[in-house]
Amino acid sequence: MTFDHRKYRRFEVPNKPDRRWPDNRIEQSPRWCAVDLRDGNQALVKPMSPAQKQRLFDLLVKLGCKEIEIGFPSASQPDFDFCRKLIDENRIPGDVTIQVLTQARPELIERSFEALKGARRAIVHVYNSTSVVQREQVFAMSREGIKHIAVTGAQLVKEQAARYPDTEWVFQYSPESFTGTEVDYAIEVIDAVSAVWQPQNGQQMIVNLPATVEMSSPNVFADQVEWVCEGIKHREHITISLHTHNDRGCAVAAGELGVMAGADRVEGTLMGNGERTGNMDLITMAMNLYSQGIDPQLNFENMAEIREVVESCTDITTHPRHPYVGELVFTAFSGSHQDAIKKCLNRRAAGEVWNVAYLPIDPKDIGRRYEDVVRINSQSGKGGVAHVLERDYNIDLPRWLQQEFSRLVQKQAEDQGGEIDSLTIRRLFDEHYLAVPVGWALKHYDLHRGDGGVSASVSLDNGADYRGASQGALEAIVQAVSETLGVGIEIEEYNEFAVEAGTQANALACIRATLGGHTLSAASLGEDTTSAMLQAFFSVAGRYVQAAVPAERPALAV
Ligand code: KIV
Ligand code: ZN
Repeated sequence: MTFDHRKYRRFEVPNKPDRRWPDNRIEQSPRWCAVDLRDGNQALVKPMSPAQKQRLFDLLVKLGCKEIEIGFPSASQPDFDFCRKLIDENRIPGDVTIQVLTQARPELIERSFEALKGARRAIVHVYNSTSVVQREQVFAMSREGIKHIAVTGAQLVKEQAARYPDTEWVFQYSPESFTGTEVDYAIEVIDAVSAVWQPQNGQQMIVNLPATVEMSSPNVFADQVEWVCEGIKHREHITISLHTHNDRGCAVAAGELGVMAGADRVEGTLMGNGERTGNMDLITMAMNLYSQGIDPQLNFENMAEIREVVESCTDITTHPRHPYVGELVFTAFSGSHQDAIKKCLNRRAAGEVWNVAYLPIDPKDIGRRYEDVVRINSQSGKGGVAHVLERDYNIDLPRWLQQEFSRLVQKQAEDQGGEIDSLTIRRLFDEHYLAVPVGWALKHYDLHRGDGGVSASVSLDNGADYRGASQGALEAIVQAVSETLGVGIEIEEYNEFAVEAGTQANALACIRATLGGHTLSAASLGEDTTSAMLQAFFSVAGRYVQAAVPAERPALAV
């Protein structure tokens, strides 16, 4: 038996009963650091080319990222070259700080500073693994030994920085695999590093807490973060940063709860590309803040462009349900969702706070169209079908016809087994309702209103003439046709609408009538309501006459 949960043990939850973070709210955006070009890049099947790196860097800058980890130059020549290119070609905007990662080893730290030579401001990010599993099984070192690596690395960073006084240096330390590290020990190592860097004396210092592997639920991570924030020395002089991975699918949640627990800064990547299940998705976390009315300090108004650049640089396609970015994330196929969305959008006044069922944000904010919201398949109902006709063709159907037509669309969707696009919906409507039976097109009509009611005469293009008189025009014509065909005619439903500007027709008439026991419907778009009404009725009559019920069809007596 290979699928056996007994192989695993429960994560030992640190005991922090005095946790305060659950009562906190995120009031403002954290500082962001984009690590797409380092953590994202090192996880790709095919690492990015220099041109792809430049394209992604430029996108990050355009989105408003102010801190960007651009690589691991001491471990990779392409990363070194890219770092040099950015600096030598003056491609880093004045308000953007680049960051490079290095292990806490002398030759690697030295090389990292060579890569950064000439930068206006830079973050040197040094790390070593501190977790129990790494100490015991990978390095076979004691807690003291691992702490010594961190302290030596910190000293080397400080010494190297002193050799390049023209650059404004920020030092960052990560107790890598923090989530698997005893919190009191992580604090001991961090304090040892800060004793070297002395943030209380003005050295800018970031402590980055990586969920290198996401090992517990996000509330446990938040406990760990709060514990560090409360436990380390010189907290007020240190920026606490988070770096969460998505092994349990909660990297964004861990980031959010970690900020509630006191973190000031969050590292992540666009759409979460990164090692294994990925890094924390910057877009999702930032957009979550945005949807709560908090300025995320990043601009995602052109999500299509972001998606295109990320896809082409990572060679990874976006899942259609990826939060905020995927093709289907604002789409409703289900009839009840469509109805609710349509009602909310129709009621919404410009400038109002967003409050639309099923849509956490206004898709337009990130460059999406409302057209993508209501899409039709066999799960959709009358509201959605009616919405498409109204939205795309200015055809506003009465409720009874919405019901009838949506059954027809649903049948088509079931037969065809997929989505029904707007053009097909329109074609179905034309074929089933607007199409005029051959010979039954209205050619000419005359109406006279007098004291006794309306007298009407109509001629069709098959040469037939109908004359009748009654209280209204429709009644007069119904009577004439009924007598001519020799069948009883009942008008079951009748509606006429003015058609919105932008279409050729000015009026839409919809009719459902029972002729000789057969119920038929038709619609007509006309220059005016009377011609639309008359044509709709004659379309129904023509359909009856031409229907495949020969035994019951009376001879057409003209
Ligand atoms: O996931 C991780 O721990 C890292 C560190 C090097 C910060 O990427
Ligand atoms: Zn990472």
